[in-house]
Amino acid sequence: MVTTVEEQAKLVEASKRLAAFQAVKDYLLPEYTRIGIGSGSTVVYVVDAIAALGPDVTSKMAFYPTGSQSEELIEAAGLNLQYISKLPAGKQLDVAFDGADEVDDDLNLIKGGGACLWQEKIVAASAKQFVCVADFRKLSARLGTAWKKGIPIEVLPMAAPRVLDELQRMGAQNPRIRPGLPGKAGAIVTDNGMWIIDAPFAPLLLSKDTGTGGQAGDGTNGTWAVDALADALIKIPGVAEIGLFYGKNGLQVASGAQKPVAAYF
Ligand code: 5RP
Repeated sequence: MVTTVEEQAKLVEASKRLAAFQAVKDYLLPEYTRIGIGSGSTVVYVVDAIAALGPDVTSKMAFYPTGSQSEELIEAAGLNLQYISKLPAGKQLDVAFDGADEVDDDLNLIKGGGACLWQEKIVAASAKQFVCVADFRKLSARLGTAWKKGIPIEVLPMAAPRVLDELQRMGAQNPRIRPGLPGKAGAIVTDNGMWIIDAPFAPLLLSKDTGTGGQAGDGTNGTWAVDALADALIKIPGVAEIGLFYGKNGLQVASGAQKPVAAYF
């Protein structure tokens, strides 16, 4: 039984590591040449697992980061760093690995706890397969129950007050502009010069919970389905991207990002 905070922290780290090594074993085939690397603390183990394959395997591969953190990880591991902006039109990554803040039963995700969600969605959308690597704390039946800080939304700073108004109208409970990192005054500024708003909504329904006999999921009484909420959020003027990575149809509408093919816990 886990009794102390230290023991719990150790368990979480062990879970992240296990998930990462398993995901790389299952989804990084030796013939792959272009690999997306996401952001966050779990991805550190993904890069460890890749580096452990050795240069015989990895020297033929190029690695595409989602921000400065994964860029540094790739370089520190001695892997070949490339940029998604240089990936020619018509080409795709073979696979992208990334973490998540919460994962529901349908493998819909909340992402953006590290404020890299826009680049993360672009890299995910550029990959044939998107593999979500997450420890056991991230799993929930419905998004909004495990990650309680809200859905991260990247916004143009000048639009932030209007976006906050609209989010409140849609039923978000106390949406807030994310503050800067400790010691930094003002709002957090993303790699794209944008701000992040964290918007907590009541736990989101899955599409299968809505429709005939189910709840509407269209925001009535503050109840949203994942896809309906994502569609509504991305249409708010001033919203650049949202931290909902969701089912196939919705993803095509919002960003083209693919549904994760696997999540490990
Ligand atoms: C960053 C992300 C991360 O993948 C997410 O926050 C998970 O991070 P961690 O692995 O540290 O729990 O979306 O924008």
